[in-house]
Amino acid sequence: MLASSKEYENMEDTAQDVGDLVVQLQSVSRHYGETVAVANVSLDARRGELVCLLGPSGCGKTTTLRMVAGFVEPTSGTISINSINMTHQPPYRRDTGMVFQSYALFPHMTVAENIAFGLENLKWPRAERESRVKEMLKLVELSHLAQRVPSQLSGGQQQRIALARALAMRPAVLLLDEPFSNLDAQLRVRMREELREVIRGVNVTTLFVTHDQEEALTMSDRIVVMNSGQVEQVGTPGEIYEAPATPFVAKFIGWCSLLQGTVGADGTFASIAGLRLAGKWGVGPGTAVIRPEQIKLATDGAAGQSLSARVVQSHYYGAATRLVLDVDGERLTMQERFPFGRHPTHGDLLSITINTNEIRILPSTPAKS
Ligand SMILES: Nc1ncnc2c1ncn2[C@@H]1O[C@H](COP(=O)(O)OP(=O)(O)OP(=O)(O)O)[C@@H](O)[C@H]1O
Ligand SMILES: [Mg+2]
Repeated sequence: MLASSKEYENMEDTAQDVGDLVVQLQSVSRHYGETVAVANVSLDARRGELVCLLGPSGCGKTTTLRMVAGFVEPTSGTISINSINMTHQPPYRRDTGMVFQSYALFPHMTVAENIAFGLENLKWPRAERESRVKEMLKLVELSHLAQRVPSQLSGGQQQRIALARALAMRPAVLLLDEPFSNLDAQLRVRMREELREVIRGVNVTTLFVTHDQEEALTMSDRIVVMNSGQVEQVGTPGEIYEAPATPFVAKFIGWCSLLQGTVGADGTFASIAGLRLAGKWGVGPGTAVIRPEQIKLATDGAAGQSLSARVVQSHYYGAATRLVLDVDGERLTMQERFPFGRHPTHGDLLSITINTNEIRILPSTPAKS
C-alpha cells in the first residue's frame, strides 16, 4: 500500500558505519525476585531485518523488548544498538521507536499531535515538525484523519497512527509488541501485510513480538522462538518449520504430532504405543515430528504401505478438514479436502500412508520445561 520514504533511507545511510548488526543482545537476563523472566538471551538483528520474538504467554517476549527499549533494566548481560553499549542508557538515548500492544495513543491529542509528540519534545521547529507529520501520515495513508482524536478511529487506524508516531523519529530500531492483538482475524491479516510493506519501504530494523505462529511465519526474516525465558531456536521461517531443533519448537510452529519412541538398528522408528515407521534415522531414543501434510489417504496402488486409521475427531475448516486419527494406538493429525457431504466422522475407518522421507526424528535430550 505504502510509498517508501527516500529521506528515511538517506538517513539510514548516514548512520554510523557499524557493519551489519544493528541490535545485539548478549547473555541478557532479567529476574524479578524469584521469577526469571528472561534467562541468558542472545540475539541480533541486522540492518533492515525483521526479527520476530515468538513464544507462549509469559515466556519473556515483552520483557526482552522492553529491555531493548530501555524501559526495563537487565539483571545481567549487554544490549548494543549500532555497536554502542546501551545497557544502562535511558530510553530516549537509544534511537528506538516502540509500538505498544494497546497503541498507547494520547487520547486528548489529535492524530497529528500524537505523531508530532516526540518531535516537539526534541524542540523541532514548527515547519519541520509539520512536514514530518505530513510525510508520516502519507506513509500510513491516513492524511485525511490528521485532525481526529484516537476515539474517532478504528483499531486498525489507531495501529497505523501508533506506527507513524514511532517512525516519525526515524529510529534505528522499531519495536512492536503484539501490535495486532486488538484486531479481528481478517484485519490482522491485512494489517500484517501492510506493516510488512511499510517496514520494507523505510528499511528500518525491526523487533516484533507475537505469540501467533502464522504472524511470525509470514512476516519475519528470522524468528527467535522463546520458551520459559530462554531462546529455544533462531532461524528463518523455513528453517523453524522444516527443521525444528526441539519438540517444543515443532509443537509451537504449525500443527504436528509428536511420537516418543526409539530407532532400531535397521533405521525403523517404533513408537511407544507400537506404531512403526520405516526409515533411515540414527539409532536411539527420539521424538518423531509428523506434520499433517505428511499424511495422505492411501491410493489403490499403495496397499503394501498403507496403515489403518480410526477417526477420533473431525474438524471442518472450509478449505480442508482436520482429522485426529488413532493409528496403532498413536494420535496423528492430518488435513485433507473431502468432497461435499463426504467428510469422515468419529469412528470411521480410513486407509492412510505416511511420507516417512519428510519426517524428522529429534534425538532425546534432557527434558526442558
Ligand atoms: N514487573 C514484573 N514483576 C514481576 N514479574 C514480572 C514483571 N514483568 C514480567 N514478569 C514475569 O516475567 C515473565 C515474562 O513476562 P513477559 O511479560 O515478558 O511475558 P510475555 O512473553 O510478553 O507474555 P504475553 O504473551 O502474555 O504478553 C512472566 O512470568 C511475568 O509474570
Ligand atoms: Mg507480552
